[in-house]
Amino acid sequence: MEATQPKPPQSLSAIFEGSFAYLTVRDRMPLILTKVIDTLHRNKSKFFDEHGEVGVEAEKRAISFLSKLRNELQTDKPVLPLTDGAEDVDHWNQYMQRQQGLMEDQQPVSWFKSPWLYMECYMYRRIQEALWLSPPVADFDVFKESKTKSFFESQQATKSLCMYLKSNKKPLTEQFLTFLQVSLWGNKCDLSISAGQDNFQKTSPIDTLEDLQRFILVDNSAEVWAVLMATQTSGGTESNGAKVDIILDNAGFELVTDLVLADFIISAGLAKEVRFHGKSIPWFVSDVNKQDFNWTVMQTMASNHKETSACGVQWKRYLKEGVWSYHDHRFWTLPHAFWDMATEAPDLYSSLQSSSLILFKGDLNYRKLTGDRNWEHTVPFGRALMGFHPAPLCSIRTLKANVQVGLQPGQAEKLTSQDPDWMTSGKYAVIQFFSPPKEQGCS
Ligand code: F6P
Ligand code: MG
Repeated sequence: MEATQPKPPQSLSAIFEGSFAYLTVRDRMPLILTKVIDTLHRNKSKFFDEHGEVGVEAEKRAISFLSKLRNELQTDKPVLPLTDGAEDVDHWNQYMQRQQGLMEDQQPVSWFKSPWLYMECYMYRRIQEALWLSPPVADFDVFKESKTKSFFESQQATKSLCMYLKSNKKPLTEQFLTFLQVSLWGNKCDLSISAGQDNFQKTSPIDTLEDLQRFILVDNSAEVWAVLMATQTSGGTESNGAKVDIILDNAGFELVTDLVLADFIISAGLAKEVRFHGKSIPWFVSDVNKQDFNWTVMQTMASNHKETSACGVQWKRYLKEGVWSYHDHRFWTLPHAFWDMATEAPDLYSSLQSSSLILFKGDLNYRKLTGDRNWEHTVPFGRALMGFHPAPLCSIRTLKANVQVGLQPGQAEKLTSQDPDWMTSGKYAVIQFFSPPKEQGCS
């Protein structure tokens, strides 16, 4: 956070009984833990086949850590330091100390009394700790099955999207806006909001766009297009070329929509390079990690549908040639708001500074962009970023948590009266852009 920034409002937290944060911590998070435990149980024979009795012992050990974790959560126990010795442990434990310093009356940092964003991230990190402390099942992705299922069940939608990408001849602007919106609505398909229940794209994503337009509360796509055009004329054609960074969210259909958008950005000459950023560990049920990313490209290549497979082949080529690259900085799985990035992950921040445009996918990224605070809805997006502006950036998000800024006066009130769950239902969306102020010249 820049020193000159005024303090942000209070964090969303389960301390506010009846709030969405409270209901998530009370109901949805324990349910996710129960499903993780079930998944490990169901894979017992696989662990036995792969590792013998040691595998079964490891499964039991992981389950006992997870049951303890669920109990800590449900009984609002103090948050414990991480102990698995991974390279991010100091960050997490220091973060805990920092939170402790903010608690009133020296109460311990605990599940229902601390910021929701912190507690939710911490739960996923503790799930990973339970696995890491249980070799040889340490690398088992407890969410893999549901991510795979979501990919396969959206096959029809994937086919129509790949066909559209390969055959469409509409003007570039129109195509870009279409792919941007498809990627936006792809974000409906996350598995964390539904506690891991099926949530996949059943219909052709292109056909539904017109009907969905009225649910986009802030649509800055014209600014996004203008930035891409500006970089093209000012240097995008030079040898170093323009870069677009996509901060990914979910695997399954959403990832396909992001890959299609990135394909279009390259093939239309809007950038020379796309850098994808994903998670280094399984995260928020459906978030993309490296294995999901590579698996999705391979599966697309292997499709028996001509245009889909042609897309997969192209994507593989982009990766091989370095036109596309995948990165998984550990900052993305820390609990920090993005306004801490410049100090906590200066290498990542400076790499993003070389971007022409950063696209942040999904709800969790929006929560981190705005610090998951109780902002007034009319506060400008740029103000809620609290100084985080490595490069022009855009959040592409369906609303699944009660934080939303940058609305017109009266807009939120109208929505609340018509549709009280507008901030959490995933029905509404934003394409919200912010460009940092230009550096002042010396003259
Ligand atoms: O558990 C709630 C949450 O953090 C919500 O903010 C959101 O529903 C979901 O998890 C993650 O959504 P997304 O995949 O769009 O980041
Ligand atoms: Mg997600």
